[in-house]
Amino acid sequence: MSKEAIAARLKPVGVSVANEGGAPGSRTGEAVYKAICSSCHAAGLAGSPKFADAGAWAGRISQGFDTLVKHAVEGIRGMPAKGGATDLTNEEVARAVAFMANAGGAKFAEPKVEGAAGGDAKVDPAKGKEIYNTVCQACHTTGAAGAPKFGDKAAWAPRIGKGLDELVASATKGLNAMPPKGGYSGSDA
Ligand code: HEC
Ligand code: HEC
Repeated sequence: MSKEAIAARLKPVGVSVANEGGAPGSRTGEAVYKAICSSCHAAGLAGSPKFADAGAWAGRISQGFDTLVKHAVEGIRGMPAKGGATDLTNEEVARAVAFMANAGGAKFAEPKVEGAAGGDAKVDPAKGKEIYNTVCQACHTTGAAGAPKFGDKAAWAPRIGKGLDELVASATKGLNAMPPKGGYSGSDA
């Protein structure tokens, strides 16, 4: 029982992973859900409405989006304020509420991430990580279908030798078993 191990156990749920999935303020509902909210809601821990369980969500959804967001931001009974991740913006919590409630049968509009809607203008490394985690990892984590495996220098060396432009071109247009953009539906950037 090192001091570090004890400190890690005492950390509020979620806080240590809150920086994953993008820069503060820019995280999507799905990214926030995966990093924070899923720690309770994926399994329905502590009486939380379970993700995608329409029966558990129906009564919650009927309170309306604004009330759900207020409860998620301020906390309610066993639900800690912002799921314990106090660095989330209220807007990010609202996106996560929309993402979760929609999976449970609601049709709320998820508040947009500023600058993300169709924006080819900027390349944001945090966004790249998020896209990798939600799309590309499906094949590139294990090397499925002959994909160069993430972190495998030998598999990447000959690819890298082609230069960035060609890699971007094959990732965008697709290459053999690699589908165009890996199936991602967002912008080329
Ligand atoms: C530590 C566990 C835990 C985490 C983490 C957590 N929740 Fe919850 N959540 C709960 C519990 C328990 C309830 C049920 C509270 C009740 O109604 O008694 C709940 C309820 C809710 C509700 C319904 C509130 C209502 O008015 O009916 C929403 C919306 C919600 N959570 C959103 C979120 C979001 C968004 C996150 C991530 C930012 C999150 N939760 C993270 C435990 C958690
Ligand atoms: C369905 C599986 C799958 C997904 C999802 C996928 N890839 Fe791939 N990827 C492959 C395979 C297979 C190859 C090897 C293709 C070949 O060389 O025959 C590959 C190769 C690549 C290459 C090297 C291309 C070259 O010219 O050598 C890049 C770069 C790449 N993928 C990027 C991505 C990115 C970025 C994403 C997510 C947006 C992604 N991939 C998602 C299967 C996938």
